[in-house]
Amino acid sequence: MAQVPPIFPSGDPEARAALRALLHRAADAVADYLGGLGDRPIFPAQPQAPAGELLPEHGEPLEHVFGAAAHWAVENSVHVGHPGYAGHMDSGVAVAGVLADFLAGALNQNLLAFELAPGATLLEKGLIQAFARLAGLPEGAGGLFTTGGTTANLTALLLARDAASRDGSRVGLSAERPLGVLCSRDAHYSIHKAAAVLGLGSERVLAVPVAPPERRLDPGALEGVYRGAVERGIRPVALVATAGTTSCGAIDPIGACADFCEEHGLWLHVDAALSGPLLFHPQERARLAGIQRADSIALDPHKWLYASKCAGILLVRNGRDLVPARYEAPYLDRFTSHGEALPVSQGRRSLEGSRRFDALKVWMILRHLGRRGVAALLEDRLRMTRWFHQALSEHPFFFPCHIPDSNVQAFAPRERAEEGRVAAAHRALETGGRLWSSYTRLDGRPCHRVVLLNPSGTEQHLRGILEGLEAGHRHGGPIPALLQSSPPADPARPQPGWCSIPRPHDPPPQHDRP
Ligand SMILES: Cc1ncc(COP(=O)(O)O)c(C=O)c1O
Repeated sequence: MAQVPPIFPSGDPEARAALRALLHRAADAVADYLGGLGDRPIFPAQPQAPAGELLPEHGEPLEHVFGAAAHWAVENSVHVGHPGYAGHMDSGVAVAGVLADFLAGALNQNLLAFELAPGATLLEKGLIQAFARLAGLPEGAGGLFTTGGTTANLTALLLARDAASRDGSRVGLSAERPLGVLCSRDAHYSIHKAAAVLGLGSERVLAVPVAPPERRLDPGALEGVYRGAVERGIRPVALVATAGTTSCGAIDPIGACADFCEEHGLWLHVDAALSGPLLFHPQERARLAGIQRADSIALDPHKWLYASKCAGILLVRNGRDLVPARYEAPYLDRFTSHGEALPVSQGRRSLEGSRRFDALKVWMILRHLGRRGVAALLEDRLRMTRWFHQALSEHPFFFPCHIPDSNVQAFAPRERAEEGRVAAAHRALETGGRLWSSYTRLDGRPCHRVVLLNPSGTEQHLRGILEGLEAGHRHGGPIPALLQSSPPADPARPQPGWCSIPRPHDPPPQHDRP
């Protein structure tokens, strides 16, 4: 009979000492990695899967496994904490979050049930109440942690759908008039995914035009889109206001959206995945005015609160709304030995089943930074974004595509002919290894984009990005395969003009679409 390998540490002093030595080694490796982030290229030149048999017959000593795994993982990762990385809504992770993940991994709590995670459940509930108060939601608000913005948005739209339909989760939607969701044309695609999953259909996501110069949802266009939908037999049930759009960081006018929802009896969901942390800033929180009127709010601490993935939050105005479906799960309800009911398990409220103790890292990060620390971090990145916007406004080659509401800035070459080289210029910058921005399309047209999260990123890095991209435009060739893979602009969608700020050589509006 094969010997059972020792996968858990034992109380034996020798085994404890060995475990301690291994964990010290792991701590050294992580400290070296985090301390040397700026010294390595941001992207692996040629990412490789690990060598060797992935399902080996025989095991190896853990020291070897750790050494090999650490080496492979570091060499084949993108280093989002590098000071030159300004690409997506990902960044270096707060050290408090690294420590929390380490601890949470060892504790292995399951937020499914109170009895599997008593303290974790109480902490999660406490943080939910604290975030709800921060957002100005009334007494009775509730919520839960999710794996991210996508699940928070999905759960919110499920609640919206069921509030409007005759209990669609229980009886299905077959007898319903088609239901729809309004959101800005720049809303995140997780709204479309949610509509698909919820049986509304992604085509029932009704795009509201955005207005220059920030590319916020245009409240003046809401009524027209709403009426157009009703005339086509669709019943809109919710409006999603985005607080920090993915492409431009625009913050939709939440107050005007709340007025519209009140008038038409719609559920107001605020997707504040990116810019929700502005609530911590005594002045900048005014950008989110009206958020206290939302029926639900999505937050994503693994973005601008520097938590490691995953950590999302859903807040719900009325905590009692938060029961995603009726089901039998008596094994989740327990009583103490004295017969008192235990606090309701968060698994009763969650679309997900087993869940990690993600609240721990959010709590530790907030405790480490304090509200003031968070506000200072946000302010620093907002200042850097304003600086970059100004630099672009004066730049001979590039110009800013919008005025930034938060920490995202899209920009494009002034010469329209250069648009075809956006992907190639990006590739050239990436090859340099020290700087990284991303690229996207606005109204179907290619442009560059930075998301300014890493506090170590400086003006010098941003100047370098502009220099590198300009050189890429001037000397790199187009990459036709990449450009061809872009889906064509949807002709049914309104095209309000690509850029909010006219550039010097802009062609007349009729040329605005290819
Ligand atoms: C505005 C917005 N909402 C939702 C999401 C989805 O968040 P997650 O990736 O955490 O699911 C994103 C992701 O970038 C986003 O930008």
